[in-house]
Amino acid sequence: MYKVLIRPLLFLIDPERVHHLTFGFLRFIGAIPGVKPLLRLLFYTHDPRLERRIVGLTFPNPVGLAAGFDKDARLIDELACFGFGFIEIGTLTPRAQDGNQKPRLFRLPKDQALINRMGFNNEGATAAVERLRKRKSNVIVGGNIGKNKATLNEEAEEDYAACMEILYPYVDYFIVNISSPNTQGLRALQDKEPLKRLLLRVKSISEAKEKPKPILLKIAPDLTAEQLNDVVVILRETKTDGVIATNTTISRDGLSTSQKEVADMGAGGLSGKPVGQRSTEVIRFLRERLGKDFPIIGVGGIMTVADAIEKLQAGADLVQIYTGFIYEGPGFVKRINKGVLRLNSKP
Ligand code: FNR
Repeated sequence: MYKVLIRPLLFLIDPERVHHLTFGFLRFIGAIPGVKPLLRLLFYTHDPRLERRIVGLTFPNPVGLAAGFDKDARLIDELACFGFGFIEIGTLTPRAQDGNQKPRLFRLPKDQALINRMGFNNEGATAAVERLRKRKSNVIVGGNIGKNKATLNEEAEEDYAACMEILYPYVDYFIVNISSPNTQGLRALQDKEPLKRLLLRVKSISEAKEKPKPILLKIAPDLTAEQLNDVVVILRETKTDGVIATNTTISRDGLSTSQKEVADMGAGGLSGKPVGQRSTEVIRFLRERLGKDFPIIGVGGIMTVADAIEKLQAGADLVQIYTGFIYEGPGFVKRINKGVLRLNSKP
């Protein structure tokens, strides 16, 4: 029903507007008594065989919502009803910021993809905390953190540290995002020395707390093999708890959308089907180098149940979706979980 009736209508409207309209709609219907339990009944898959234990947390199922969808933690309770095993909020920065000029989000239906250059538009970590305090659902929440646009790279650590301090009691794990292509210079933090310093800093904050929380690093799909090898060494050296692979790509290779249309959309990160294969390669590479026990969350281009299974088989412990949720609709999480169960039950 979503793909035949709802998506064609939604795809007539500007993508960022649809995002806000959908949020408004979900908040409205979510407030009607009985609707949230009904959504859970329709979309949630309860099965102990789906449980995954990584980074010291027990995830009820391996399918999460990727960062960027609910940056400001506005809709945790409602989104949890769609069956996600975990939800990643953010990227949050210490201070609120508008992000880039609109339009900054584009659909490429021929490629089942999106291009975005949102630029960390968010209301800031403190505003997110106000909402997290009120949430009722106990779904696992990851706090994806970044730096403000105005903060120089040399001072970036302070922004990550500030976000962590603000969010600390309210999220279950942290994700250090240095892989968005939409904040100028951010990806330079993926270089060896700055990355190591940053990870040691956030780790030290966590370890100074009574209850240390897991820290994961989110990386770009555009890293070379050499850069990935450096990441592997740094993850080990800094005792970072896990890695999320991958963010959006700056590549525009192999698209069916015309070059002109793509050029007119301009700069930004490409997500959805075209990033899928590369992100799986990165996951496979990391699993080989990091060994079987290192926690890896796989994300990028999961548009079918088979794509999710492929990422799990390539070495991901858990997966996340964003663009696939937009293209496939609310039933997608359940379909993936059912697919994982079918796989489990094969002799
Ligand atoms: C994103 N993504 C993202 N990632 C992140 O770490 N912080 C962020 O703020 C955002 N924001 C964001 C906005 C939009 C509009 C999109 C489409 C994506 C990246 C996202 O979490 C994911 O890593 C990629 O989109 C790849 O997964 P999919 O979309 O191919 O499933």
